[in-house]
Amino acid sequence: MNGPNLYLHSKHLIPGGTQLLSKRPEMFAPDVWPAYYQRAKGAKVWDVAGKEYTDMSIMSVGACILGYADDDVDDAVVNALRNGVASSLNCREEVELAELLTDLHPWAQMVRYVRSGGEAMSVAVRIARASTKKDLVLFSGYHGWTDWYLAANLGDNHGLDGHLMPGLQPAGVPRGLKGSAIPFPVNDIASLRELIKGREKEVAAIVIEPARGEDAPTDYLKELKALAQELGAVLIFDEITSAFRMNAGGIHLRYGVHPDIAVFAKCMANGYAMAAIIGTEKIMQAAQTTFISSTNWTERIGPTAAIATIKKYLRCKVDEHIIAIGNQVKQVWKDAAARHNLPVKVSGLPTLANFSFDSIHNQAMQTYFTVAMLEHGFLGFRQFKPSYAHTSEDVQRYAKAVDIVFGEIATHDHSNLLVTPVAHSGFFRLTKE
Ligand SMILES: Cc1ncc(COP(=O)(O)O)c(C=O)c1O
Repeated sequence: MNGPNLYLHSKHLIPGGTQLLSKRPEMFAPDVWPAYYQRAKGAKVWDVAGKEYTDMSIMSVGACILGYADDDVDDAVVNALRNGVASSLNCREEVELAELLTDLHPWAQMVRYVRSGGEAMSVAVRIARASTKKDLVLFSGYHGWTDWYLAANLGDNHGLDGHLMPGLQPAGVPRGLKGSAIPFPVNDIASLRELIKGREKEVAAIVIEPARGEDAPTDYLKELKALAQELGAVLIFDEITSAFRMNAGGIHLRYGVHPDIAVFAKCMANGYAMAAIIGTEKIMQAAQTTFISSTNWTERIGPTAAIATIKKYLRCKVDEHIIAIGNQVKQVWKDAAARHNLPVKVSGLPTLANFSFDSIHNQAMQTYFTVAMLEHGFLGFRQFKPSYAHTSEDVQRYAKAVDIVFGEIATHDHSNLLVTPVAHSGFFRLTKE
C-alpha cells in the first residue's frame, strides 16, 4: 500500500489517522503527501514506497534539530538500551540532565521530567497552582491538548481564536473548569490588566511563549514578569518550540528575562520522547505538595538522548549552523519570488522560517508548491525548520527546485492551479474530521 492509501486505511483504525495534527497529510497536500516513512537519516527521508526526499519542511515539527537518526545520540541510546532502559532503581541520567539544564539556566535550581510537551505544560501549571494555592491561569499562545488549556474554550468557543488553534472544541473538558484559564493578547499589558480586573487575587500563573514567530520584545517580557510578581503569580515560559532554536537552552536567555518555570520538550532529545520542567527551588518544591508521578517518566532513553543532544549542540555550536541555513533558505524564497515577480511574504526567525503568497489563492499556491516539490525530491512546505544535518549543498539543490516551482506558480492561473485538494490552513477543519 502506498503512503496516501495507507493513510486512508489508518482512519478506520485510528481516529483522525495520526497522533499529531501537524503530521496529518491534509496539512501539507491531501491525497499526495507521502504520509509515512520507512527510514530517516540526516536531512533525508525515505517513504514507504522507498522514494527518497530531502526534508526541507518541518523536520518532525522541529524535534530533530541535529537531523534524523543522529549517530552520537543514537549511539548513546543504544548503549542505554543494552544496559537496560528500566529497572527497580532509577537511572542516574536524570541527575546528570538536571545538572546540565540548571547549568545552562542558572536561575533554575530544580527539574522534573515527563515525556511530551502538552504533558509538561500540565505539570508546570499544576505546580504553579499548588505553589500559589490559586486557580486562575492567564495564557497566550499554544500550550498543548490538556484540560487546563482547552478550558479557555468552555462556554465561549472563540476563546482560543488567535492563539494558534482557532475553533478547538473543548468536548470532554469538565464544564466546571469554565473561567479557570483566560487567553490574553501579547504585547499589551494594559489590556491584560483590564482583562483580570476584579480577579487579580486569583491568578496562579501567567503562561507565555517568550518568542514564536519573531524575537519577543524584551520590555514586554520584563513588564509581564513585574506583573506576575505584583500578582503573586508564577511566570511560566513555554519553550517547547522556541528552546534551542536560536541558542543553547531557552530563548529567554537571549533576552535576560527569567521566568519562575520554563518548559522544554521537542528538540531537547532530537526526536526521542523527553520533556523537562525547570524552575526555582521555591516554586518547584510545590511538586511535593501534590501528586505528579508516572512509571514511564522513569525510563532511561529520554534523558540519555537529551544529554547526548545537548552536549552535541554545545560542542558543535549547532545554533550557528541552523541560523545560517535558515537565513539561506529565507533568501532562496525571496530571490525566487523576485525573479518570478511573485508576491511572497517571508517571515519568522531563521530557524522557524515560513513564507506565504500575498494572494487570495495563497492556500492553493502553497499546496501546489508542496505537491510540485515532491516531484523534485523534496519534502517542501511553507515552513522550514533547519537542522544541523542540512548543508549548503542541500540549500543549493533546493534553490533550483524552488526557482522552477515558483516559476510554474507565476505562470499558472491561480484560481485553477491544483488537480488535488487544497491543504488545510490550520487546525480548525481537522478537528472536525
Ligand atoms: C509552544 C508549544 N507548547 C506546547 C506544545 C505541545 O507539545 P507536544 O506536541 O509535545 O504535546 C507545542 C507543540 O507544538 C508547542 O509548540
